[in-house]
Amino acid sequence: MATNPRQPAVAPPSDDKRWRIVQAAMRRNGFRRDALIETLHAVQESFGYLDEDSLRYVARSLHTPMSHVYGVSTFYHFFSLKPAGEHTCVVCTGTACYIKGAPELLDAVSKEFHIGDGETSADGKLSLLTARCLGSCGLAPAAVFDGIVAGKVSSDGVIERLRAWQSGAGAVAVSPAMAAENEGSAVHA
Ligand code: FES
Repeated sequence: MATNPRQPAVAPPSDDKRWRIVQAAMRRNGFRRDALIETLHAVQESFGYLDEDSLRYVARSLHTPMSHVYGVSTFYHFFSLKPAGEHTCVVCTGTACYIKGAPELLDAVSKEFHIGDGETSADGKLSLLTARCLGSCGLAPAAVFDGIVAGKVSSDGVIERLRAWQSGAGAVAVSPAMAAENEGSAVHA
């Protein structure tokens, strides 16, 4: 089926009205690839940051490879890939992780810190995000703590790390975790 590049053939990630602003920016530029930066600006101004869903949406709408969109959004310092929290915990909700308990992890974090997916705690210390698959399915359930992947995480382990962040002990286990990741394994939370 042929697609008209001037038409928004891709549905936005949610019903949020802010997507209309993003769509307007893309429409203004005829859904051309060279409108990428302007479009990412529109997303960031509307939502405060660029998450995976928004990047994927922009990539599909502008018929641009996800790798290019990701490259641009990480190259320019004025784009932020995470909410404003001091620390970020990304819980994988891909199929393997979902089966192995990702919903329970999210539930535990939500109950303990009163934040849901895409939200930041009132004190600005913690942001919670989800991802569809981190590519570490063998280690499900997996999560990313400030950019460092951890495998076979438990609710207690996640809570413990987040409590440490909240109390200001942000550097806990970061270096060993990074080492484990670089060696092809992941730490257990
Ligand atoms: S589904 Fe979670 S890492 Fe693949």
